[in-house]
Amino acid sequence: MKHNIPKQSLGRTNTDLQLPRTLLLGSATAATQIEGDDGKCNWSHWAAAGKIAGGVRSIKAADHWNRLEEDVNLMKKLNQECYRLSIEWSRVEPEEGQFSHEGLQHYLHEMQLLKEAGIIPLVTLHHFSCPQWLQEQGAWKKRKTVKLFVRFVTKVVETLGDLAWEYCTINEPNVFVNDTYMDGLYPGGGKNDVMGYFKAARHMIEAHVKSYTCIHELRKSRGFTGKTRVGFAHHLAFFDQKSKSPLISLSRRFMDYSFHRIFFKGMVEGKKPFPIGWGGRFGQRGKTYCDFLGINYYSRHIVRSSWNPATLFGQLDVEKNLSAKQKNDLGWEIYPEGLGHVIRQAWNQYKLPVFITENGLADAADSRRASFIVNHLEQVAQLIQEGVDIQRYFHWSLMDNLEWNDGYGPRFGLIEINYDTQERQIRPSGHLYAEICHNHVIPSRTREIIKKETLAS
Ligand code: GCO
Repeated sequence: MKHNIPKQSLGRTNTDLQLPRTLLLGSATAATQIEGDDGKCNWSHWAAAGKIAGGVRSIKAADHWNRLEEDVNLMKKLNQECYRLSIEWSRVEPEEGQFSHEGLQHYLHEMQLLKEAGIIPLVTLHHFSCPQWLQEQGAWKKRKTVKLFVRFVTKVVETLGDLAWEYCTINEPNVFVNDTYMDGLYPGGGKNDVMGYFKAARHMIEAHVKSYTCIHELRKSRGFTGKTRVGFAHHLAFFDQKSKSPLISLSRRFMDYSFHRIFFKGMVEGKKPFPIGWGGRFGQRGKTYCDFLGINYYSRHIVRSSWNPATLFGQLDVEKNLSAKQKNDLGWEIYPEGLGHVIRQAWNQYKLPVFITENGLADAADSRRASFIVNHLEQVAQLIQEGVDIQRYFHWSLMDNLEWNDGYGPRFGLIEINYDTQERQIRPSGHLYAEICHNHVIPSRTREIIKKETLAS
């Protein structure tokens, strides 16, 4: 569906929304979701075992591995200022201890293309996948994985040298441990394994703290250029409650603690929060292990209480009676104010620069993406005005991709992918976003149209 939003050149009024140039605008992807199968990744095996929706048995995805030049050209067309991508561990270390020259060179080449295009990369080192050999050893349940991860990180950072200086160690550790050990959706397929949840969380936090130090020391000792900045991408859901019931408030606080706070305490402060530890530390007292707060935000959830420890003493619902316009194709509520809430809370606590590392929606018809982008950027502008230091906005996603166990149905891309032909086409909302990225302005006319659309929904 085409939206009827006019070109920005149609004139500016004094209610144009300006976005500062210190905020870089771009988009994000993850290797497993777009590159295509290498046969060595644990998700290749998960697909072969029939665990992905829609009968997907091998992951061809968007064949990005073979289409780097074409895709970087599309990023240029979209005026992307920054790009968040991830490195597939199994491409770099297909067998334990054996590093692939070809794999490493491929990512180096990608960095060169981005540099030529003037796009600043943010490199994620773990985005939900690992080599199958590591999966067979127990992956994140095993402490040895911390060491193996740091060794892999060292190889990548050494190889990328001057071409990448901003790193995101681990993507959404909370979603990862939940979907791997509680919901059985990701390789490993654990169900209601609370011990597994906290054990893997502990190892991921330790791996982050060690990688943080390692990346800083390594880049410094090699004299690599670019201001080294390391963080992780945290999934922050907005937990809301409809009643003031003390029981629900308690559930909400408990869920907020085990799903959000534990990871901040561990990965930002270097602490071992309960039940990961009894007050000890992975890092030094008084030191911070993140140079930015990476925040992935998608939706609001309404909390209900529950006595079930396997659901972490809470139950999450979607707001009732939402119109089709107020939900994405996966049924998640579209709630821009939630972005404001979660960022304000994190900022007030840590006062670190904020990178919005993911924000987007599944919208195959492209009927809600333009207003989604504008309404969320309005929140970003408001936060900046309040003094929050937001430096990056990465829309999820640059292109349609494999939505993990949900398969190819959900369409998150600014670029539409035809999976039969691998043809790419920029969606109308992608064109609108390209203009915003270029001008750093949302014209009043666009804002008015979106406002009307949003109110009517
Ligand atoms: C996540 C991941 C992405 C998803 C995106 C949409 O949040 O699960 O970081 O890989 O594809 O969030 O669900």
